[in-house]
Amino acid sequence: MYSNGTAQARPRKVTAPDLFGRKVRAGAAPIAMVTAYDFTMARLIDEAGVDAVLVGDSLGMVVQGLSNTLTVTLDEICYHGRAVARGLERAHLIGDMPFMSYQVSPTQAVESAGKMLKEGAFESVKLEGGLEVCEHVQRIVRAGIPVMGHVGLTPQSVHAFGGFKVQGRGEEAADRVVEGALALEAAGAYAIVLEAIPPDVAARVTAELGIPTIGIGAGRACDGQVLVSTDLLGLARGHQPKFAKRFAELGDAAVSALQAYVAEVQSGAFPGPEHAYKANGPTDADGAPKDLPPQALRH
Ligand code: KIV
Repeated sequence: MYSNGTAQARPRKVTAPDLFGRKVRAGAAPIAMVTAYDFTMARLIDEAGVDAVLVGDSLGMVVQGLSNTLTVTLDEICYHGRAVARGLERAHLIGDMPFMSYQVSPTQAVESAGKMLKEGAFESVKLEGGLEVCEHVQRIVRAGIPVMGHVGLTPQSVHAFGGFKVQGRGEEAADRVVEGALALEAAGAYAIVLEAIPPDVAARVTAELGIPTIGIGAGRACDGQVLVSTDLLGLARGHQPKFAKRFAELGDAAVSALQAYVAEVQSGAFPGPEHAYKANGPTDADGAPKDLPPQALRH
């Protein structure tokens, strides 16, 4: 081991086994998880102390502007995974298995999950479904890849559900959610996302499982929460789900900043002398100009 004397201590990475142990009833702090799709956002999320970051197939809607997640590919998930991974020092990185990258067979599931770790820099994978994907989960876990489950409103089944609809309403539907979650735990999942189900059903699942539940639109009884980062930051425009609390209005802030930029470009106020290179300005040993602010030196 060598040191150049300047390296800063990096925070310890949150691992799948760490998250596996985060059961609130055992005294653990609830898990805070968010989605991310690029390096810049990943760095901010990591700095904020988020435990786990999901490169969700929601990128089809959030990044690509599509109406559902179905066309997202394994290569696209891996591309965004590599970018997000470069921004994370502490948070655990989870990759969402896209539609039709695992449903065909347990073998296909293992191959896709393996590709996500090799080409996407992911540390674990998430897939949607209950009983019907348990064999797939078992095989992926046996290959040494931690798996997060996802039951309730599973967006890849949007056409089967007839839209993005709350699941687990009524006794029979609630039992199906609980059975699916228990089967995923038995198959080796280390945690399970519960999406858009009534809070009492989420509470029942959370009480019956030994692994943590991470809710999105599933109430406060879960062992953690996950939100889409653009929703929670108020960057999203148009319709938003009821559960997506906006913790800031960064979309409005961005529009104001862009309007100010347009106005200064049009008036000639920008760029000012402080944003221009001097003819014979100082440079550092590598020849980079010293008379520009650090953010300008990145380009
Ligand atoms: O794709 C996604 O972002 C998700 C989360 C909302 C759980 O699956």
